[in-house]
Amino acid sequence: TKKEKLELIAQRIRPFQDFPSKGILFRDICPILKDPEALTAVTDLFEEHVRQTYPAVELVVGLDARGFLFGPLLAQRLGVGFALVRKKGKLPGPTSSVAYSLEYGKAEVEIQEDGVLPGQKVVLIDDLLATGGTLYATCELMKRQKADVLGCLVVIELLDLKGAERIGSTPTFSLVQY
Ligand code: PRP
Ligand code: ADE
Repeated sequence: TKKEKLELIAQRIRPFQDFPSKGILFRDICPILKDPEALTAVTDLFEEHVRQTYPAVELVVGLDARGFLFGPLLAQRLGVGFALVRKKGKLPGPTSSVAYSLEYGKAEVEIQEDGVLPGQKVVLIDDLLATGGTLYATCELMKRQKADVLGCLVVIELLDLKGAERIGSTPTFSLVQY
């Protein structure tokens, strides 16, 4: 059942205190990937949500780096393609990028210009939503490419950080919340 799948996924998320810096409680998704039943459960629940909510989806867009672990599995289930949004400097050919601020310093997300087409209906996927900076910048990048972001999918949402609010009008779907 859906409840059993969510419980299994939650059991396979491992907390590490003070990683990568003091005061951060890091939520590690590696145990999900080591358990085929848990990984299938993640894909099942994302697939069910997208089929019900966004049946017109044409492309799954995954965020560097852990969005790459879940995105292609979902795209295959849905019978659509997968595109990568990377940290700046990793993609060849003509690209488009958007800078954003992190807790400390800055970063930039980038996509190949032909990675997503104007008018294409996409869902964004990542492992975790914290402040929402990464997904917000990616939404801006999609806007610049004239793609239509139907929604965002994450395995984990850290509610205290109000990332869903930062992303604004684009709906967010999460499997496990803390
Ligand atoms: C983590 C996580 C998300 C992002 C969430 O990635 O995988 O992509 O942070 O944070 P935000 O909601 O505050 O933007 P990180 O930047 O650590 O990069 P990595 O995936 O390359 O480890
Ligand atoms: N990315 C941003 N915050 C995180 C956290 N607490 N655990 C894992 N990844 C993260």
